[in-house]
Amino acid sequence: KIVPVILAGGSGTRLWPISRDSLPKQFLGLGSPKTFYQETLLRLPEKSSGVTDPIVVTSDDFRFFARRQAAEVGVEATVVLEPARRDSAAAMIVAARIAQQRYGDDCLVLALAADHLVPDAKTFRSACLTAATVAEEGYIVTFGITPTEPRTSYGYIRPGAPLGVPGSFKVERFVEKPNRETAEGYLAEGYLWNSGNFIFPAALMIAEAEKFEPEIAAGAAEAVATATEDLGFIRLGKGAFLATPAKSIDYAVLERTDKAAVVEGRFAWSDIGSWDAVRELGTPSEEGNVTFGPVSLLDSRNAFVHSEGPLVTGIGLDGFTVIASDDAILVMPTDRSQDVKHLVAGLKAEK
Ligand code: GDD
Ligand code: MG
Repeated sequence: KIVPVILAGGSGTRLWPISRDSLPKQFLGLGSPKTFYQETLLRLPEKSSGVTDPIVVTSDDFRFFARRQAAEVGVEATVVLEPARRDSAAAMIVAARIAQQRYGDDCLVLALAADHLVPDAKTFRSACLTAATVAEEGYIVTFGITPTEPRTSYGYIRPGAPLGVPGSFKVERFVEKPNRETAEGYLAEGYLWNSGNFIFPAALMIAEAEKFEPEIAAGAAEAVATATEDLGFIRLGKGAFLATPAKSIDYAVLERTDKAAVVEGRFAWSDIGSWDAVRELGTPSEEGNVTFGPVSLLDSRNAFVHSEGPLVTGIGLDGFTVIASDDAILVMPTDRSQDVKHLVAGLKAEK
């Protein structure tokens, strides 16, 4: 059995002011009728290929979004609730435990981020099934994306010896979020980006976590053991989960394990992590402007203006991004998109 797990508890602060703590980007559409979370559910491999209903792990605060948005696209999801964010390692191990309880020791977990854009669902599904045959051999399988620039917001994978399944390799090295200089070197050496989606035997991930992060492994296990059911949601044991250290699965396990493999992710992929990535999804005008919502520009070039509220007007903009929600406006040079998270951290500190 393949058990899809959607990690939908992130905060998406780099897409402020549209993505908020109270409604993060995975539950938004940014101009499309379906949200990123719904698109993720809709591109799961079909049940006829041995795939179960999905398990969604998210924060208590988003429980009704998670359930209602799944129902809207006709997906029956088990929604597991975290009392607070502890990053992706705890969430993934919790999901692996629940999958193992339900479907037995041999099941595979297909862990997917809830906030990526993958336009070609068909190619994605077949990549998942190929990766499943590699995972069955005892690997934590990543999907490698050919990098286009030295981004520092991704994990980097050095593919090693080829494995039996065509297009699959052992991971020789995994480095999470290197600095720019290191990333430039990796590009030259043929490293791949980690897409942030994984498939692995549930039991293997649990064992690797016990080896490298015994506290997280134990906390996650205890949170599942003490979970309660509430209105059909699975509410993780609060004390145990809150005591679990926060770390992403990339630092916790992927950088350290020798059981990682990579398959070529031949599907088009975008992590809509920041406003410059959202800009790339739009079709630029002749002057290179990308606009969404009520916007009017004069003598402007390479501007990105996205409004979900007021009419936004601009004169003589060049390479600028303006994002307007009902109650807040962000203005910045487009190449400062990665800094929005610092701005948001500053706003929180002022409160
Ligand atoms: N349930 C839950 N709880 N989910 C979480 C939590 C949490 O505390 N924190 C993050 N997530 C979810 C996010 O919603 C997202 O779907 C996924 O886990 C990945 O988290 P991000 O915070 O978006 O990670 P990242 O983008 O910095 O890095 C990861 O993805 C990159 C590609 O997009 C890494 O895997 C990188 O190696 C990778 O390149
Ligand atoms: Mg991300």
